[in-house]
Amino acid sequence: MDENTNSNDTPLWGGRFGSTPAEAFERVNASIPFDVCLAPFDIRGSIAHATMLGERGIISDDEAKELVRGLKIVLTEVEAGEFAWTIADEDVHTAVERRLREHAGAVAAKLHTGRSRNDQVALDFHLFCREASEKIIAALLETMRAFVDVAEANRETVIPGYTHLQRAQPLLLAHHLLAHFQTLRRDVRRFEAAREAANVSPLGAAALGGTPHPTDPERTAELLGMEPLVNSLDSVSERDFALDLLYACSVLGVHLSRMGEEWVLWTSQEFAFATLSDGFSSGSSIMPQKKNPDAYELMRGKSGRLIGNLSALLVTLKGLPPGYSKDLQEDKEPVMDSVGSVLAMLRVLPEMLRTATFHPKQMREAAGGFALATELADYLAMNGVAFRDAHHAVGRLVRRCEELGLELEELSREELVSAHPELAGFPGELLTPEGSITNKKSLGSTSYKSVERQLAAARDLLETGR
Ligand code: ARG
Repeated sequence: MDENTNSNDTPLWGGRFGSTPAEAFERVNASIPFDVCLAPFDIRGSIAHATMLGERGIISDDEAKELVRGLKIVLTEVEAGEFAWTIADEDVHTAVERRLREHAGAVAAKLHTGRSRNDQVALDFHLFCREASEKIIAALLETMRAFVDVAEANRETVIPGYTHLQRAQPLLLAHHLLAHFQTLRRDVRRFEAAREAANVSPLGAAALGGTPHPTDPERTAELLGMEPLVNSLDSVSERDFALDLLYACSVLGVHLSRMGEEWVLWTSQEFAFATLSDGFSSGSSIMPQKKNPDAYELMRGKSGRLIGNLSALLVTLKGLPPGYSKDLQEDKEPVMDSVGSVLAMLRVLPEMLRTATFHPKQMREAAGGFALATELADYLAMNGVAFRDAHHAVGRLVRRCEELGLELEELSREELVSAHPELAGFPGELLTPEGSITNKKSLGSTSYKSVERQLAAARDLLETGR
């Protein structure tokens, strides 16, 4: 064999080595078990690079065409799941180049001109994170749509609002669901920011300091729909875009966890506010009566690894000097895991919401009683009583009700007036969940009018993107 050429059993960097890698080293060094999902991005990056090399006359037009043709065949193989991956290839970049050589022959050895695996892997990972952000944004919008649909279908349903998980005041269920809509809307913004951070092409940085070849990093960036790098050293060293994505996934994970907890409570026999459809519940292997909200529990549980993945990459990056270090290979699995987890949850949530059944009677019952006490205090305060005094008078009344085993609604007018003379004119309908809800006047409140406005704005946002 000609010693100047590379063969399949020598690594592509094998020129200065007297022997092939030890098997145990090869296994720990290889990223191929997980970086195969970068393959489509790697190939698209290489197509842009080869095109630019041809345009700049660094390789001939025919060579560029041959490379692009070969790369497209490799892409088809990858997409069809027909690519034969082997750990001896070390990483996806090497694997693709090896296969390209099998399709395009010797010209494959020119593809890497003016490029390093350092800017190549950074580019692949940018493209991966950009696409992941886009997929998550689309899934978030779908979930937001489900929240609006369910809110709209349950316009009249009232629910107790809680503070400290103690019944606080009645709310419209739609108001509650639209609160989650706002949460997810902020998540969309975080993923948009993560997408923007990922949309910068490091290609052209080569190993770290650029290249003597007359390459055109602006052109490759343009071909990939990205912004070009500004500083070659920074662009091969930084993984901030991955942190941004992991952070967005962590915050979303915390949100989904809180929603999960809520549904675990709602579907318990103690709350009995809602029942999940059979398609989104599972049973017990021993207790025949059980119907468990597993998906919501997993939504709560997965927040642990989402936060862990962010911590993992932060710690990996801490202390790394500028320039590529192999530690950076550890950047991929946390991101792939978080993206996969988030997408899996967002794929189950919209339909699980839409197919659940609410129990308005139970919810309404829990939304009355002492949850209406603030109405009495607010009425007094609106009729000239200082709010602190009003609060005190109603507090005493609640204590009296507890002693008598009565609800506020069950008190006679005399009892109200004996709590405070100004309650003589108190409108009785305010001691109903619906009356209390109607009575709210402030911006963004749970009143029927406010919720209608919120629904219209939410619909508008989904339709116009604003
Ligand atoms: N598998 C490597 C990674 O994921 C690719 C880059 C290798 N670069 C190098 N100089 N060895 O980071």
